[in-house]
Amino acid sequence: MSERKETVGVIGVGWVGLVTAACFAELGHPVIARDILQEKVDSLSRGEVSIHEPGLEDLLRRNAERITFTTDMNELLAGARLLFVCVDTPPTYSGDADLSRVRAVVQELPEDGDHVLIMKSTVPAGTGQSIRRDMPNLSYVSCPEFLKEGTAVQDFMNPDRVVIGADPGDEESADAVAGLYEPLGGQILRTDVASAEMIKLASNAFLATKISFINEIANVCEEVGADVGQVAQGMGLDGRIGTAFLRAGIGYGGSCFPKDVSALKMLAGNTGYHFQLLTSVIEVNELQKRRVVGKLEKHLGSLIGKRVALLGLAFKADTDDMREASSLVLAARLQGEGAEVAGYDPVAAERAAGMLASVEMTTSAMEALEGADAAVLVTEWREFAELDWAAAAERMARPLIIDGRNFLDPEVLQAAGFEYEGIGRAISAPRPAPAP
Ligand code: UGA
Repeated sequence: MSERKETVGVIGVGWVGLVTAACFAELGHPVIARDILQEKVDSLSRGEVSIHEPGLEDLLRRNAERITFTTDMNELLAGARLLFVCVDTPPTYSGDADLSRVRAVVQELPEDGDHVLIMKSTVPAGTGQSIRRDMPNLSYVSCPEFLKEGTAVQDFMNPDRVVIGADPGDEESADAVAGLYEPLGGQILRTDVASAEMIKLASNAFLATKISFINEIANVCEEVGADVGQVAQGMGLDGRIGTAFLRAGIGYGGSCFPKDVSALKMLAGNTGYHFQLLTSVIEVNELQKRRVVGKLEKHLGSLIGKRVALLGLAFKADTDDMREASSLVLAARLQGEGAEVAGYDPVAAERAAGMLASVEMTTSAMEALEGADAAVLVTEWREFAELDWAAAAERMARPLIIDGRNFLDPEVLQAAGFEYEGIGRAISAPRPAPAP
């Protein structure tokens, strides 16, 4: 008979909580997942998943019998000892992380020595220490989350590393958390709490720095006639640099990088240290989102009355997340210049509609391109690579495309009759039609 695995508790079933719950259930653990929103708990209990994350729905369906969704904290505390806190920590107006949801959860936990708070939410370094100061008998382990939206299930099951931070006195709790992750086979790194918290913020800030760096290199490539794809490849072959996260584009977005880079900068600032580099990383990213406007003006002159089709609205492919998506800034800037903006996204359209009220939402890429003076590829959805671009060129008023993710093959677009411009790539004119 197989040994019964320890029940895992999850507090907050947003994106991180839901993936955590589903994956631990897949590993054979009974899971109790608690959220304060009755509506969310009801729909999850009926098997309805409102976020788009590849593989997640299947996992939840397959393990439905192992997972209990509830709003009742007492049910959670009675059934689970190990409690993963997965509530969100959005940015405040000051750029710091908003810890109100974390604090609300902590206040509900008993200091009985029976439960272990495992912090998955991204919090400023020092948060664990301050919680422990207020509740000295609470076992506290930091276990930051490194999942990427769109590949979260895969990332959970194949972690590069699992970081587990605990301070003296909590080693046994940390052992218990490490035990949960051992079957996955990734490297488990044990640290103190503040270092674990810092690893999470520093990792995201470093990745964001890589992106802003390559985006600036791309901008210089445009001036000197170099190709950023080739440059990134050549740089990445140096093992010290690596090829990952060197894709130039129209800036990073999402719920993590913008928030965490700013939170780290503010955290440093609050201690009196000015984090100069991150200030530039943020500024480069903001400007990068707007560069497309200049590129369009270069081709079209004034944008007043011009129709621009945005292909893709989500902050990246394989997610319906619109948080800090470059499309939001771009649409507003284009409208600010007098353009009419149409938008299409295969998955995020519904979420986007509420945030882009004055953008004409279409139900297909072709419909967005109809009569357009230019297209901008904002999100690298697979279907855009497979679009019939020759048919698209015929439906547009002017077959011009700015590829904001360097996702399309310039030769294919050229052959289809497009003027093509990417980021840090050579501009190409349409290939002349063969002589009759
Ligand atoms: C990011 C981190 O990659 C995860 O490790 C982390 O767990 C997560 O934040 C988090 O803190 O929760 P995520 O925001 O889901 O994950 O997405 P990424 O794939 O990292 O992409 C972030 C943004 O950077 C996207 O807008 C993407 O288009 C952009 N990006 C990424 C580039 O512009 N160039 C690249 O080379 C890579």
